[in-house]
Amino acid sequence: LTLTNCGLEASPGQAGELLRSKAPLPEPFKVPLPIPPVKKPVRSDARADYYRAVQKKAMVEILPGLKTEVMGYDGLLPGPTFDVRSGRNTVIEQVNELDVSTVVHLHGGHTPAASDGWPLDLLMPAGGQGEHEGHHAMTGGDMKMGSRTYTYPNTQRAAMLWYHDHTMDYTAPQVYRGLFGLHIVRDDEEDQLPLPTGDREIPLVIADRAFDDNGGFLYPIAKDGVGVESQYMEGVIGDVTLVNGAPWPVHEVDAVRYRLRFLNASNARRYELAFDRGPAKFVQIGSDGGLLDKPVEHKTLVIAPAERFDVIVDFSQYQPGDEVTLVNKLDGSANVMRFKVARKATDDSRIPDKLSSYAAVPEPTGLTRRQWRFRRGDAGGHKGWTINGKAFDPKVMQAQVKLDQYEVWSFVTDVHHPVHVHLAPFQVVRRGGGHPGAYDGGWKDTVDIRPAEVVDVLVKFTAHKGKYLIHCHNLEHEDMAMMAAFETI
Ligand code: C2O
Ligand code: CU
Repeated sequence: LTLTNCGLEASPGQAGELLRSKAPLPEPFKVPLPIPPVKKPVRSDARADYYRAVQKKAMVEILPGLKTEVMGYDGLLPGPTFDVRSGRNTVIEQVNELDVSTVVHLHGGHTPAASDGWPLDLLMPAGGQGEHEGHHAMTGGDMKMGSRTYTYPNTQRAAMLWYHDHTMDYTAPQVYRGLFGLHIVRDDEEDQLPLPTGDREIPLVIADRAFDDNGGFLYPIAKDGVGVESQYMEGVIGDVTLVNGAPWPVHEVDAVRYRLRFLNASNARRYELAFDRGPAKFVQIGSDGGLLDKPVEHKTLVIAPAERFDVIVDFSQYQPGDEVTLVNKLDGSANVMRFKVARKATDDSRIPDKLSSYAAVPEPTGLTRRQWRFRRGDAGGHKGWTINGKAFDPKVMQAQVKLDQYEVWSFVTDVHHPVHVHLAPFQVVRRGGGHPGAYDGGWKDTVDIRPAEVVDVLVKFTAHKGKYLIHCHNLEHEDMAMMAAFETI
């Protein structure tokens, strides 16, 4: 099987079935960009910061004049941001006041298995049965009632991670309703760089949604309550773009450099972000797993579900009064959000030529190789998506992987899949038979595999033995079983 990049650039950008809102939609660029609040610890000691988050429903104004019921951490969409130090423990007591069971996963976290969010380690609602328990009763897992404490050692580089629901078979609808938020790790190496900080560092969490006529979220749950209606099995995409929970928001900026930290938290939608007018470019400084070694310039940013891009945008190239719109070129240059350049201001930030040093990965020769095939499949009565011909089965470990050794993992696909590996970041070494792509730089934990493509990555797991996951991060694909367990030994 030899595949090249030729012809793949033009592959259809968007998988998924569009769900149209019935609610009246607002004019774009009227709602100010919200910034998710930074969560305060309830206490701290020499080694750890302790937090408490409550998963609950809340009525939130997303579309002006209408109320949307969200299921959120602290009732927020997105949830609060955990802003933490590398090497210090973050201990979070999660309380479930919902009527469904949940699981919390820290995406990109170097986390012991007990806190990683195994899809059957359910946190059940306080004082009662959740709706999914019957469905999951026979499957086992470490269940907890009412509250559960997750411990994140944060023994990793500075990076923007995110946390989200990971309940087996229900991740897509539960993330869609609001169970996601940011977890930003900081370290000394990054602090020493002259990058924009304070309110010139802005997290931008992009997620598409659709709304019914009174403002509730529309999500096409299958009739038996498990998974998505079959016509949406490619993935659910909505007609409203939320950034930090607001529809097509607007944000006022000074005419200076900004650090924009993008997360695509959409269930299935991919974006090619671009500015509607020059000359601004995206200077990428970081990826899923933290800083690149040196900056990389892009005219547009292609971002698949769960990927993060850390970029510098220089608004000093515009005049006060200018308006610059961020659009999605994969969707006919549809609106995402707008920046209004308000005034000139002083700026002592810089983009250093050298951002970070990290050890080079070995040559991918003579290493253990594993192939992971992501395909639509019929596996023993299962109609959905498969990995290596198997639907997700929590009892089946598809691989046993030794700690502290590099391996080459090959991801092979039929159609578009954003592939995510828990526990360790990886480096892309080959894409479509050639060099890594423009967006593959640095340490990644999610990589977008285009139709009929093979991507090779180098990965090494360290420190934690246990059960972990590899899966497609199109959440409808994930819920329809495109997930596999492996064990680190
Ligand atoms: Cu972002 Cu296993 O997930
Ligand atoms: Cu997929």
